[in-house]
Amino acid sequence: MADKHLLIVFHSQSGTTTRMAEAVIRGANNSDIEGVEVRVRSALEANAEDLLWADAFILGTPENFGYMSGAMKYFLDRVYYACEGKLNGLPYALFVRAGNDGTGALSSMRRILSGLAVKEVQEAILVAGEFDESRLADCEELGLTLAAGLEAGIF
Ligand SMILES: Cc1cc2nc3c(=O)[nH]c(=O)nc-3n(C[C@H](O)[C@H](O)[C@H](O)COP(=O)(O)O)c2cc1C
Repeated sequence: MADKHLLIVFHSQSGTTTRMAEAVIRGANNSDIEGVEVRVRSALEANAEDLLWADAFILGTPENFGYMSGAMKYFLDRVYYACEGKLNGLPYALFVRAGNDGTGALSSMRRILSGLAVKEVQEAILVAGEFDESRLADCEELGLTLAAGLEAGIF
């Protein structure tokens, strides 16, 4: 029975972050894992109820103007006060797609997430520059690791 909940929230404008998200989702839905329900939401639609439902979450965004995408910021803006003080160590992981950098997207998300007292439990996946297909395997592994860790109760 799926009694643990994994939330995946992402945004993509030209589709490459979507490709990463699809791999993360594939990993999270690995057929060997039975105890985890996976919920996928666009950053424009995800809300505080989704985050409060989650036992772990994964956020994915492109880097725009040295920051997370506006859509991801919009998500965090909308959930912040509703979730503040209620997430208490919730495990999370990040993935970022960037034209040439990506560090600004990662640091801007981490800065806001630190205010929510959640805990980054896996190394972020950053795919910068020309899209490297081989990194999709890393994305899949990220989804699998979060789901497997949740199922096993190790986070
Ligand atoms: C408005 C805009 C701003 C961007 N700013 C950055 C940036 O600051 N740093 C960077 O590495 N790439 C930047 N990029 C490149 C995107 O991160 C890159 O095109 C990425 O693949 C977009 O992801 P997507 O295909 O999921 O939309 C920018 C792209 C756009 C459209």
